[in-house]
Amino acid sequence: MAAASAAGSAVAFKSAGNSHRKIANFSHISSKVKLPNLQCRSLRLFSSSGIKAQVATVEQMNIDATQKVEAPVVIITGASRGIGKAVALTLGKAGCKVLVNYARSSKEAEEVCKEIEAFGGQAISFGGDVSKEADVDSMIKAAIDSWGTVDVMINNAGITRDGLLMRMKTSQWQEVIDLNLTGVFLCTQAAAKVMMKKRKGRIINIASVVGLVGNVGQANYSAAKAGVIGFTKSVAKEYASRNINVNAVAPGFIASDMTAKLAGDFEKKIKEAIPLGRYGQPEEVAGLVEFLALNPAAAYITGQVLTIDGGMVM
Ligand SMILES: NC(=O)c1ccc[n+]([C@@H]2O[C@H](COP(=O)([O-])OP(=O)(O)OC[C@H]3O[C@@H](n4cnc5c(N)ncnc54)[C@H](OP(=O)(O)O)[C@@H]3O)[C@@H](O)[C@H]2O)c1
Repeated sequence: MAAASAAGSAVAFKSAGNSHRKIANFSHISSKVKLPNLQCRSLRLFSSSGIKAQVATVEQMNIDATQKVEAPVVIITGASRGIGKAVALTLGKAGCKVLVNYARSSKEAEEVCKEIEAFGGQAISFGGDVSKEADVDSMIKAAIDSWGTVDVMINNAGITRDGLLMRMKTSQWQEVIDLNLTGVFLCTQAAAKVMMKKRKGRIINIASVVGLVGNVGQANYSAAKAGVIGFTKSVAKEYASRNINVNAVAPGFIASDMTAKLAGDFEKKIKEAIPLGRYGQPEEVAGLVEFLALNPAAAYITGQVLTIDGGMVM
């Protein structure tokens, strides 16, 4: 994992043939490159068309400009794989401008951006460790440099370092707390600063049912996720007067790389304990996140923990 680096060391470049930008924030990259301005597709059309086409292009640019103002800017941490990827694709399809954060999987993150662009959306990938304050600051700056604001912050990045308490190493405890809890604190604080000024915003924290009911071998993970739930409620109270809604989503077992690690017989036992008898799909979690992030009806929901677990915890 990259060590923290100053905001000025963010590296941005346009990959050949791609219109999305990849931004890495790793300290071993020393060259400083100024963030290029996003090039509007219609601008390129303009230079190669006749007068009629130019008028049409100007009209298109105006439409693009209107859409730019209206399309919500969304940051999703840990969006290269699993639930985060599904959320990024869902919100990209819904017309949002999406910053796809990742830690190591740059190719996967670029693929997510390409998929969003394939259905006409805008996306940038950002490599950075969201348990590090400098990386978080650079990530927020990248969104603002590209699109001027942050409307929705989705704190999804998370890891497991399972083990029984008796044998749990301090490093196992610390890594999980640093990312799953401190990362949520850092991203929320940084995004809320932007949202407070415009008195509008939505923050969604991906917790877990394990934060509600505990789990053998996950003292570190359940402590972090229970912390996220308490944090969500406190921050919702602090920011309600600023029209910033803060909610948590608590998934049960969702098919992803995280649950793929579980052994076959254990998986069978888990499914027996789920009333709906199956793992959830990342897209199902993404649908709930989309509702909380974008739907006008969600404007009156704040400080809540919404479980999505096939009925496991009720
Ligand atoms: N899957 C489940 O059953 C389940 C259930 C309840 C809650 N959750 C929660 O849902 C969230 C997503 O889980 P998932 O199953 O989709 O996980 P996943 O498939 O393992 O993906 C984890 C994501 O987090 C990113 N990440 C890891 N360390 C990071 C760091 N230091 N900074 C930034 N990003 C980092 C990864 O990026 P790289 O690809 O670059 O490593 C990846 O995009 C987590 O918070 C998890 O606790 C999952």
